[in-house]
Amino acid sequence: MEAEKTSIENCQVVDLPKIHNPAGNITPIIGEVDLPFAIERVYYLYDVPGGETRGGHAHKHLQQYLVAAGGSFDVVLFDGKDKKTISLNRPYFALHIVPGIWRELKNFSSGSICLVLASHKYEESDYIRDIHEFRNFKKL
Ligand code: TYD
Repeated sequence: MEAEKTSIENCQVVDLPKIHNPAGNITPIIGEVDLPFAIERVYYLYDVPGGETRGGHAHKHLQQYLVAAGGSFDVVLFDGKDKKTISLNRPYFALHIVPGIWRELKNFSSGSICLVLASHKYEESDYIRDIHEFRNFKKL
């Protein structure tokens, strides 16, 4: 997928597998089976102070799935033209963020955990952190 041409329509929430158990549920995630890429990196965001906003960038190549592993938060997606807000509030929903999408994460509930499954290792050169640069990148 060419990052310059992606849109928020390419970012969808998917249902993850769920193994029900009265003693507690399990959600297993297998790269290239439950997600369209091999998982190269996992990280999670936690201890986010109330009112804080994270993100505020786009990626040139990186694809990610975001999961509210605990609590809830909102993800604002922007493709240079349109914006949409997705609320993540269940550990069995995952939001696919394709390359070339500006994202902001906000309204973290107390104690929430944002689990991220990423297609590549951390690479600062893959980030677009300036909104003007992002608009130029999207040729808008
Ligand atoms: P960043 O992705 O900008 O955070 P967020 O989008 O959640 O606000 O990452 C913040 C810093 O953390 C970044 O400058 C470098 C470091 N970092 C790593 O070293 N490895 C990683 O995998 C991530 C996600 C961040």
